[in-house]
Amino acid sequence: MYTAEMLESIKKVEATRAQRLGVEPRRMTAEEKDELLRKFHPDYRTDGFQEIKVGPNKGEKAPFELGTLLHSNSRILNVPIDLDKVDYDVEVLVIGGGGAGASAALEAYMAGADVMMVTKLRLGDANTMMAEGGIQAADKENDSPQRHYLDAFGGGHFAARPELLRRLVMEAPDAIQWLNDLGVMFDKDKDGRMITTHGGGTSRKRMHACKDYSGAEIMRVLRDEVWNRQIPVVDFTAAVELIKDDKGQVAGAVLQNMETGEYKVARAKTVIIATGGAGRLHYQNFPTSNHYGATADGLVMGYRAGAPLLYQDTIQYHPTGAAYPAQIFGALVTEKVRSVGAMLVNVDGEAFMHPLETRDVSAASIIRECTERGKGVKTPTGWGIWLDTPMIEMLHGEGTIEKRIPAMLRMFLNYGIDMRKQPILIYPTLHYQNGGLEIGGDGFTKVIPNLLVAGEAVGGIHGRNRLMGNSLLDIIVFGRNAGKAAAARAKEIELGKMNLDHLQKYAEELEAAGLHTGSVSPMLLPNYTFSMPR
Ligand code: FUM
Repeated sequence: MYTAEMLESIKKVEATRAQRLGVEPRRMTAEEKDELLRKFHPDYRTDGFQEIKVGPNKGEKAPFELGTLLHSNSRILNVPIDLDKVDYDVEVLVIGGGGAGASAALEAYMAGADVMMVTKLRLGDANTMMAEGGIQAADKENDSPQRHYLDAFGGGHFAARPELLRRLVMEAPDAIQWLNDLGVMFDKDKDGRMITTHGGGTSRKRMHACKDYSGAEIMRVLRDEVWNRQIPVVDFTAAVELIKDDKGQVAGAVLQNMETGEYKVARAKTVIIATGGAGRLHYQNFPTSNHYGATADGLVMGYRAGAPLLYQDTIQYHPTGAAYPAQIFGALVTEKVRSVGAMLVNVDGEAFMHPLETRDVSAASIIRECTERGKGVKTPTGWGIWLDTPMIEMLHGEGTIEKRIPAMLRMFLNYGIDMRKQPILIYPTLHYQNGGLEIGGDGFTKVIPNLLVAGEAVGGIHGRNRLMGNSLLDIIVFGRNAGKAAAARAKEIELGKMNLDHLQKYAEELEAAGLHTGSVSPMLLPNYTFSMPR
């Protein structure tokens, strides 16, 4: 399956393997990391960004493609929407059908609220489903939430909002327990104790996993739970704008049926944005590990209604996306492959970095190897670096790959590559938006009353870089909290008269700034037939 050139390079990887097995590559110093990031991480490329010209973050920078969506008009600017004709009337409206949305809906339901979920695809079509490696929680004797906090705070360049990160780590053990009690089948040893491993930047083994389909297993259980409790889910229906009332509170959302195009009005006392990430915007032309609907819709709707963004200029490029074959270009190769022993090596079989540096450092290091150092392996779509997977079974014994990372084994076997015998080719892939809508420790936006955000649409939990396994954790912790808080708040709310005045106001701001992108937002689904004008 590999080209002749690749097979030549594999010979060099094999030739250095025995000697590499006994030596752990050194970790970079803080200064080396800073220099590396500045030169090679995509977040530092000025041509990938534009200045935001309107709204609460005016004057700050955003990835070019997100900026274009923020600079576009509403899809329903001149569409007559009759807000007096209410199609759905609920206490808590959850926008988004992933792990954060499902957790929120479950807790709101448990708190006795009248809750409804709306999702533009189906319940579970979300980045949660795509998550592989695991979920962090400091629940072993040698660990503590404080250590977890320090690891995540340092890994995020000391930029995480303390009130958010504190909540994340303190409530992590309970999140694992909740999932376990619901029926998530975590990997356990023969005594029933959870098996935990390291991820990049962790000082203790605190990654809990369900082999290498942790997200799919968690989503399976959450989805069953939503269905079993008969929580209403309106699927194939996108939220296209928030509705406010004459008191300035959020009051619901305008929905659009994805098949018929028909608009519906959902009135709600509290709204939770749980719309996930933005990988399908393909920042800087990167491929993505994200699901098909990851188009930053919640960020756009929240922003147009007046909610500020935080760290919208920082993106996570997962160091190990599949680089070959082309059919799986950009698909996630879980960090767990490195956690269980595979090393990153260049075209000459040389290890050039510690395999468990944090993600931003690892991605930058791979990009440097392929560009400045010219040590990448040529592929039909660009460059790749070897992830030396046969090392795993040399270290831990035959059968380890099948047992610990079966989804990876299957993904490559589909294309005739047996990762137990041959290394695999990887390159960074667009994986996660570190930034998003700004919230307080209680989950509410600070500007729009009764609007909450949970999951990947939140900015500030992880700072400017996220550690592996803290995203599956944040969707549970912040999803559950948002559901409880929304249910409690809904009991106190009297809604006023609904309006969409903010759409007109935003349009006027765009006009005043001379912005005419020719497109509308939110994007809802990627359009692979065109590329956004630059
Ligand atoms: O590498 C991974 O399995 C991804 C995990 C994450 O983004 O948390």
